[in-house]
Amino acid sequence: MAGIRIAISLAVLTGHALAVNNGLARTPQMGWNNWNALGCDVSESLLLDTSKTLVNSGLRDVGYNYVVLDDCWSDGRDEKDFLKVDMKKFPSGMKSVADEIHREGMLFGMYSSAGEMTCARYAGSLDYETNDAISFASWDVDYLKYDNCYHMGRFGTPKLSFDRYKVMADALNATGRPMLYSLCNWGEDYSHTWGMSIANSWRMSGDIYDSFSRPDDLCPCSNAADPHCIAPGSHCSVMNIVNRVAVYADRGQPGGWNDLDMLEVGNGGMTDDEYKAHFSLWAGLKSPLLMGNDLRTLSANALTILNNPAVIAINQDPEGRSITRVRRETDAAPDKYGAGEIQVWSGYLYGGDQVVILLNAGGKDTKISASLAEIFLHEGPEGSAPQVQEEWDVYDLWANRMDTDLAQKILDADTADLPKLFKEANWYNSTEISYKEGLKKNDPRLLGKKTGKIAPGGSLTVKVDKHSAEMFRLRSVGTGGKRKVHSKDEL
Ligand code: GLA
Repeated sequence: MAGIRIAISLAVLTGHALAVNNGLARTPQMGWNNWNALGCDVSESLLLDTSKTLVNSGLRDVGYNYVVLDDCWSDGRDEKDFLKVDMKKFPSGMKSVADEIHREGMLFGMYSSAGEMTCARYAGSLDYETNDAISFASWDVDYLKYDNCYHMGRFGTPKLSFDRYKVMADALNATGRPMLYSLCNWGEDYSHTWGMSIANSWRMSGDIYDSFSRPDDLCPCSNAADPHCIAPGSHCSVMNIVNRVAVYADRGQPGGWNDLDMLEVGNGGMTDDEYKAHFSLWAGLKSPLLMGNDLRTLSANALTILNNPAVIAINQDPEGRSITRVRRETDAAPDKYGAGEIQVWSGYLYGGDQVVILLNAGGKDTKISASLAEIFLHEGPEGSAPQVQEEWDVYDLWANRMDTDLAQKILDADTADLPKLFKEANWYNSTEISYKEGLKKNDPRLLGKKTGKIAPGGSLTVKVDKHSAEMFRLRSVGTGGKRKVHSKDEL
């Protein structure tokens, strides 16, 4: 007992690892954020309408439970230096918005910046952290996205950035209200090396934009290993972000995750295949899954990407290990931007399953083949992993994608008809059965469709269309459901 007390007070004295131990984000957070589709066009009615759509479209139940308000909600500070809410945009005030979101069975996130101003030039929280954390807690906020603009020069080394972000971590902790702390410093100052000690997620790149691979001068960094790659920028394509994060992919862990930025699925700038690839990679890389589309105009197509429980189960896998890249070939047939590459990603899953993503970012459909030796590279070099000698069932994680007509019916339905439609759709309700429980019970909706086998020593060979990805769960045939676990949890 005395030992525990000493450890706790030491932790308090040093302020060590308390924020990440707030018990939150044991799997990557899921939800919605307004920024990608709507920018500063924020209001109380937007948040409340979106909350209703989250419930009626079934997206809350499939796991998207944080409603996050981004920049542009405030109106300066009052005479006591507390942030004022813009009452034109939020006439009932933030506490009332939070109450409504909570009544809908979801959680409420807000935004500020570790700077003098936010990126859209509203009042920032730098040097007002205590006041602002008190405000957030008093409004019953559950999540803070904390940006990096106008930082007054307090960056340039990991220590400077860490210190600046830690002040808010401590202020949030001091309120006693658990609030998920989401750092948005665009990967500056190596946030993947220190983010996990104070936060639940940390951005890894400049801002995403709605393009699969189009280069843009506003996003100058394309090589994360380049020490001169210091300006994260904006207008970063999916492929730019994937290639930047690849070398740091494994830095996430239960409680703290690499954040690849909000999703663009449904915003209209990519093809269906590109959105599927984007979603598959974000899920496998254990990024937070924050939808970034306007849910009031949600299309059936976007819904059937965002609601795929077999892909979400990879993101929410209790083991919490990211996929890593086991192959990158940059000489595949070029696309219209002149770049052509294929990549193979692989990752360990709860119970000894393995996820594999075959990505074709080039301009021509192609066959991609990955051997078991390559897939299990991290379990033993040059084919020495025991898994290479096993036989594997292959489950295609997109083969059971929901039918678009049924999705449209759900979007058009009156509330009273929804239960029947959700039943017809065999909807996965993670508020009733968590992903962990579903995986334990081998819920078929989380496994996808069995489409083949890989013989011992064999390979997975699949045709992958241009600008798309195929995603599979491999399950060892010989283990008869009694699978190996690396985590402390027993299956
Ligand atoms: C930065 C962030 C974005 C968004 C905007 C708001 O660019 O990276 O995600 O929050 O600010 O101004």
